[in-house]
Amino acid sequence: MIKVKVELGKNSYEISVGSDLLPRVGLWLKEKNFSGNAVIITDTTVRGLYADALERGLSAAGFKVTVLEMPPGEEQKTLANAGRLYQRMAEVFTERTSPVMALGGGVIGDLAGFVAATYMRGVPLVQVPTTLLAMADSSIGGKTAVDHLNLKNMVGAFYQPAMVVADLDTLKTLPREELVNGMAEIIKCAAIKDRGLFDFLEENMDAAVQLDTTVLENILEKNVRIKASVVEADEKESDSRRILNFGHTVGHAVEAVTDFQIKHGQAVAMGMVAAAKISCRLDMLNEEDAMKLEAVIGQAGLPVKLPELNRDEKEKLLDLIKHDKKVRDGKIIFVLLKSLGNAVVSDKVTAGLIGEVLFGWQSA
Ligand SMILES: NC(=O)c1ccc[n+]([C@@H]2O[C@H](COP(=O)([O-])OP(=O)(O)OC[C@H]3O[C@@H](n4cnc5c(N)ncnc54)[C@H](O)[C@@H]3O)[C@@H](O)[C@H]2O)c1
Ligand SMILES: [Zn+2]
Repeated sequence: MIKVKVELGKNSYEISVGSDLLPRVGLWLKEKNFSGNAVIITDTTVRGLYADALERGLSAAGFKVTVLEMPPGEEQKTLANAGRLYQRMAEVFTERTSPVMALGGGVIGDLAGFVAATYMRGVPLVQVPTTLLAMADSSIGGKTAVDHLNLKNMVGAFYQPAMVVADLDTLKTLPREELVNGMAEIIKCAAIKDRGLFDFLEENMDAAVQLDTTVLENILEKNVRIKASVVEADEKESDSRRILNFGHTVGHAVEAVTDFQIKHGQAVAMGMVAAAKISCRLDMLNEEDAMKLEAVIGQAGLPVKLPELNRDEKEKLLDLIKHDKKVRDGKIIFVLLKSLGNAVVSDKVTAGLIGEVLFGWQSA
């Protein structure tokens, strides 16, 4: 097992990554002086697989446990569900010392995180991620949210967890498509911050997607350290944390233009390849590094090319990029690579240049 501390003053917390950790969470929470009712928020799939192991450990440590579940899926990340959870928590007399556990993927992490952030102005949150995406990305950093008015993550809060426990054994039941989805964010972290991790991914990608625990623990440790260091430098995402958006400007637009039929990780993969090409076009990145990035993305089983789009969709995609929430004073804030492991935030990328690189369009 490895432990990584996220240093945020009084909001500091530890991330544990390893095997057979679910039964130990109860004891760790007791040691931290949590008590009373422990609430596990999860989805039906994950409940069937992993709630028992977590629950047993909590009961043995003296907690009374309540499990609240909902069907899986992004459409559950709503204010209506948050409302239902507040009500259920009030019924079981949740107090300020009662931990709320998010057991599941990023959907459960974001929803339960939002509920923990807002219920009685904040109760302790424990992230217990069970997807690779949640382990590598969404459970760390304190971003919580629900979707609203057809907008993803429209209502949310920054709220740091009290603890993150990533039990690698849970990945054994994760569908391959979901595993690969999370790998995109890991490749992203390596590309923006850590050449060593990138080289390790290059050599060990096959073992990682076959769930070699030692390899995965190694990768997650480095990945979690990177994400933690970026969050430590910029807790509320004002500036330096923006490099985590590498691949996301084009990626978010691809997700929206395809009506979210393409998974986030796949869209980010396409976005990273596009961002690397743009970096080369601006003479920042050499072709060799761009090709290496594309090769690792492909090796993970992620797409390196945009889906087939008609002219209208291509125009809509560029339009979405121009209206991305990262646009500042009319300038697109775009994350570029100088080399593998070294990213910069730039406002030099225009929609014209993106159209040129993605679709071969001549800019006006
Ligand atoms: N807060 C952040 O910083 C942040 C960052 C990235 C993404 N997100 C959010 O994360 C969400 C996506 O998260 P996700 O990709 O984990 O999807 P998800 O939570 O929908 O999980 C994917 C599927 O896998 C199933 N599942 C989960 N764990 C499993 C396991 N161990 N075995 C078998 N099946 C399992 C779930 O039931 C679900 O059907 C989005 O809502 C996104 O907005 C948040
Ligand atoms: Zn992402």
